[in-house]
Amino acid sequence: MSNYHIKHLEEYYQVYRKSVREPENFWEEVAEEHFLWYKKWDNVLSWDFKKPEVKWFEGAKLNITVNCIDRHLTTNADKTAILFEPNNPEEAAEHITYKQLHKRVCQFANVLKDKGVAKGDRVCIYLPMIPELAIATLACARIGAVHSVVFAGFSATALATRINDSDCKMVITSDGSYRGAKTIDLKGIVDEALNECPCVDSVLVVKRINSDINMKAGRDEWVQPLLENASKDCNPEVMDAEDPLFILYTSGSTGMPKGMVHTTAGYMVYTAYTFKNVFQYKEGDVYWCTADIGWITGHSYIVYGPLANGATTVMFEGVPSYPDFGRFWDIVEKHKVNQFYTAPTAIRALAKEGLEVVEKYNLSSLKVLGSVGEPINEEAWHWYNDNIGKKQSPIVDTWWQTETGGIMITPIPFATPTKPTYATLPFPGIQPALMDEEGQELTKNQVTGRLCIKFPWPSMARTIWGNHQRYKDTYFSAFENKYFTGDGALRDEVGYYRITGRVDDVIIVSGHNLGTAPIEDAVNEHPAVAESAIVGFPHDIKGNALYGYVILKDVGEGRVHDNLRKEINQIITEHIGPIAKLDKIQFTKGLPKTRSGKIMRRILRKIASNDTSNLGDTSTLLNPEVVQDIMDNVL
Ligand code: WTA
Repeated sequence: MSNYHIKHLEEYYQVYRKSVREPENFWEEVAEEHFLWYKKWDNVLSWDFKKPEVKWFEGAKLNITVNCIDRHLTTNADKTAILFEPNNPEEAAEHITYKQLHKRVCQFANVLKDKGVAKGDRVCIYLPMIPELAIATLACARIGAVHSVVFAGFSATALATRINDSDCKMVITSDGSYRGAKTIDLKGIVDEALNECPCVDSVLVVKRINSDINMKAGRDEWVQPLLENASKDCNPEVMDAEDPLFILYTSGSTGMPKGMVHTTAGYMVYTAYTFKNVFQYKEGDVYWCTADIGWITGHSYIVYGPLANGATTVMFEGVPSYPDFGRFWDIVEKHKVNQFYTAPTAIRALAKEGLEVVEKYNLSSLKVLGSVGEPINEEAWHWYNDNIGKKQSPIVDTWWQTETGGIMITPIPFATPTKPTYATLPFPGIQPALMDEEGQELTKNQVTGRLCIKFPWPSMARTIWGNHQRYKDTYFSAFENKYFTGDGALRDEVGYYRITGRVDDVIIVSGHNLGTAPIEDAVNEHPAVAESAIVGFPHDIKGNALYGYVILKDVGEGRVHDNLRKEINQIITEHIGPIAKLDKIQFTKGLPKTRSGKIMRRILRKIASNDTSNLGDTSTLLNPEVVQDIMDNVL
């Protein structure tokens, strides 16, 4: 029996049981049946969560781009691989066939080689959602270079931090980007970042908006002329199963962003297998994930997962509100999208615009609707189900993380009965555990706890770039022999999981993970700021928004003015990016602290959320009097 395609609930349980009882046989079958290997593995899995060390398909040799591109050439050369929908709806969509994708990836790979990029080198990709983003990513994988894609909404400082952390020798960017009615000067941001990045010796620039930009001689080059002269063939580098494929940064609750390292074979097998089952992709379907390739969702479910299945994957350059709030539905109708995968934030923002903008469009092509990135609230779930899926398209609420590489807890459409706000059941191969605060596993149903995973899965991140100790401390130290996700979850009476949110200081704003510490560091850079604490509070559209409590150095009346709020947000924009701006800033004389000097964020969170009925015992605080003062002045 092939395990590859699950179609009924019984089949799910059967496959799931096998994946737990005989994980090695299970994954070996999947890997054997559906991929091309230069050489098969000597060992399916070796692991030790204490070190931690995990290896899948050790000894195997492969190239992921051969699996994502070359092997489809015999059967599907003229099928659209990437369907590019530009920001401007008047501009024609571009259908890139598998054959054309092959050529363009090979040419790009040859340009990288000419520029001296070799296997193992890190290349930073800072591009908007244009085809070159996917192509450059695949070109790196073609030659064994490790790509580090940085979301093009990050600021120069955030970009420089990421470039330096992984010692990238090249940056691939564009002159600028289109975002709705605006253009953004990406090259200017790169130039500013590179003032701080001695490791970078070349910059390849894609022409997109035809802006007048500065090209630094000896460092910067337009890529199009180089591509035109490059050979259309590029032998794929033969990679080991555990060779790093990419680094992708994610925010931690403290400190620098973490460069999660994903390796080749396990990542390929898992993203391809989950894509096939979670979206029930069938030959001829058009699949669209609205994420940006700068995030893990785009890596796994715009590029690698879909292409490994020979799918047609839509790449959208623009924003849901341009030229109006009907844009998503316009694209669904225009390209007859069958599977649509987006974030709750987008659903809430679109729901707010009313049904007129939806009803204009024919959405009958839709078969499966996905949700990712943050908990989906009941209202948004029903709006999506009723008005977009017309109660015919199952909603797959997929829970996973940058660190997990692929979808972990999710319904399988048409097999798993859905339940609003529940991510439902673990995907085959995934063994979740809920833990209590004492570190005991809660084995019954109808419990709430901290979500851990007990057994390795093929696409888990293997380390944090340059800091294995931090990887161990962050994910493998809270609970013995388990991977700790940082999320809380509950399990209902039938074993369905509902993710309740982060239990650490990571705040998810519009689906983007933000650590409070780096934002506080940015705020504290303002010369008037003495100290600050940032917490999340519920927001109708963004899920969470940021609330800053700020102590000023000189609390003279004249100092507290709106300009100060603007200046603080300006600093945040420069250090991190506009996504981390504070919605509310309360100036305060003090922050509640424990006797050991730790800020009591729990209290601040409650006050910001207008939930002060049960603040808990504040008498043990160093300065209990500030609590009332903060409550009296809450915004
Ligand atoms: C949250 C995104 C509830 C969660 C793929 C996780 C979710 C973090 C869901 C990872 C979901 C993601 N329901 N919460 N379906 N999906 N999350 O690394 O808190 O950007 O830990 O990966 O998003 O975010 P990341």
